[in-house]
Amino acid sequence: MKILITGIAGFIGFNFAKFLIEKKYKIIGIDNLNDYYDVNLKKRRLKQLFNSKNFKFYKVDLIEKKKIKEIFKNNNIDFIFHFAAQAGVRYSIDHPAKYIDSNILGFYNLIENIKNFKIKRLFYASSSSVYGENKNFPLNEKEHIFPKNIYGLSKKINEEIGFIFNKYYNTKMIGLRFFTVYGEWGRPDMMMMKYIDCFYKKKIFYLNNYGNHSRDFTYIGDVVNILYLLLKRHKKLKSYDLFNICSNKPINLKKIISFMKKNKIHPKVKKVSLQKADILKTHGDNKKLLKSIKYKKFSHWKISVRKTIVWYQKNMLKN
Ligand SMILES: NC(=O)c1ccc[n+]([C@@H]2O[C@H](COP(=O)([O-])OP(=O)(O)OC[C@H]3O[C@@H](n4cnc5c(N)ncnc54)[C@H](O)[C@@H]3O)[C@@H](O)[C@H]2O)c1
Repeated sequence: MKILITGIAGFIGFNFAKFLIEKKYKIIGIDNLNDYYDVNLKKRRLKQLFNSKNFKFYKVDLIEKKKIKEIFKNNNIDFIFHFAAQAGVRYSIDHPAKYIDSNILGFYNLIENIKNFKIKRLFYASSSSVYGENKNFPLNEKEHIFPKNIYGLSKKINEEIGFIFNKYYNTKMIGLRFFTVYGEWGRPDMMMMKYIDCFYKKKIFYLNNYGNHSRDFTYIGDVVNILYLLLKRHKKLKSYDLFNICSNKPINLKKIISFMKKNKIHPKVKKVSLQKADILKTHGDNKKLLKSIKYKKFSHWKISVRKTIVWYQKNMLKN
């Protein structure tokens, strides 16, 4: 079975690819290795995958339509996990064009191929950002979506294109609304990793909205297990569907910070006001997901945060 993973040098794509390679799946990876954050971290992730003979990598941008088509022609791809995107909510205020190119045109260039090549299923990354400031917590997949920024809007547009594609071309697709994923090999632009990094690099950590945000933090170990169960149960899933990928346990940022302090991670913190693209709280309902894949055992956040700190100490301090 051949699986194409886009955004394979990224946080979620890499962790899932590593898991699948250990299970002996054949993986084809795509990434443009952009410099939104430390390219060296992306290269270090990839280096781990290159140890396997079941791994093939293409450094390509999704905007390069012809090259993407060639990849489909030259590989008999069965499944796709599409994670490549311009991520980040705050960055979208100053760089809206990047979201249009990578997230909307890039998404289209990819899915056009699933019409023409026999792809069994495309799983693609959406985001909790599609809900915007909808406060009907816990938010289930039927809730209205009102994105508050270009990032969330790009994901909403993906969901709508996906829905129409499925209707007219019978292309099987699942949209995955991820909620604040954290853990080993995590993104340095996101709160958890940034906080640890600021401590060790003696930088000031800017705490937005004075720490009054709550996030439905979801551990990467759980995300990988969930993605694998979705793959295994793909025949039981609807032709087109959307799932929240979340722990259904929002945690206030102050609580995370206090736990970090107990673990001796305490950078200098400067409290700042709300950033206009930010959402105050995220809290997803995961009943539909858990019912579909029969997943019960989410890791406890304190254990997972601790694992994240230990990973950083082992992997980021000597480099
Ligand atoms: N991490 C989270 O908490 C979270 C939450 C909600 C949604 N998501 C979504 O999940 C997906 C994966 O997120 P992540 O945290 O791993 O992000 P990431 O930035 O670590 O990974 C994305 C990867 O895609 C690559 N990429 C970006 N644009 C590309 C393009 N045009 N062509 C080829 N490669 C390109 C980047 O180089 C990067 O390696 C993204 O679609 C993101 O929007 C993530």
